[in-house]
Amino acid sequence: MRKPIVVGNWKMNLDHLEATYCVQKLAWLLRDARFDYDSCEVVVLPPFTSIRSVGVLVDADKLKIGYGAQTVSVTTQGAFTGDVSADMLAALGCKYVIVGHSERRKYHPEDDATLVDQVRAILAADMQPILCVGESYDERKKGIELEYAVGQVNDITRDLSEDEASRMLVAYEPVWAIGTGMVATSRTAQDAAHAIRRHFADAFSQAVAERVRILYGGSVTSKNASQLMSEAHDMDGFLVGGASLDPEEFDKIVRLTQ
Ligand code: G3P
Repeated sequence: MRKPIVVGNWKMNLDHLEATYCVQKLAWLLRDARFDYDSCEVVVLPPFTSIRSVGVLVDADKLKIGYGAQTVSVTTQGAFTGDVSADMLAALGCKYVIVGHSERRKYHPEDDATLVDQVRAILAADMQPILCVGESYDERKKGIELEYAVGQVNDITRDLSEDEASRMLVAYEPVWAIGTGMVATSRTAQDAAHAIRRHFADAFSQAVAERVRILYGGSVTSKNASQLMSEAHDMDGFLVGGASLDPEEFDKIVRLTQ
């Protein structure tokens, strides 16, 4: 049975002037939220500059931390000014790292080979990659949203081993739903999650397909989380953006998911 998971992606949304205070406030409120960690895994992805402080402020063995997308250097160490290696993120206590988020694909495009290298570096550092996929309006208007999302998954996973693939998480995040308030319907989320899970069964094995956790992301709130979770049965949780910056809202989403 796959454990539900809710991941809060704080991105770079915190007020630059109060970033430290905002992070501390969020961390304290989440620390005191008393989530039922046995029934739902809870992860927050702070900005890079706050990973250490969040890890100190919360019990990072329970409320896990990760990193939300960055060009993770595929080399482990050396004269690479400005790079951040997967080992460095793991040393900060990260357990999850986003790969291929649509905002990275848009503003900092990386080829599939680089994303595959990042996935392998994250796995080698004993963390779990969260591969983000999802169509734009164009693909949806053409009716090719499912093959588009599955194609994005295949581009990154086709040369992985069964063990590597089974440690992946995939977040289906239709680009038109991110930050727009236009959440996908349960049917849309389920169709995508089912297509992605079936791809893992075909490309690897049923055992791998049953282990991979598939999240939905894109305008998730406490108003829509319950219906999505109950009706999209191939989905295992959420990748939450804006709503994760409000501790009360994030608390509600976690409780609706567990
Ligand atoms: O990574 C999650 C994010 O892209 C979704 O953002 O604000 O639509 O929940 P939001």
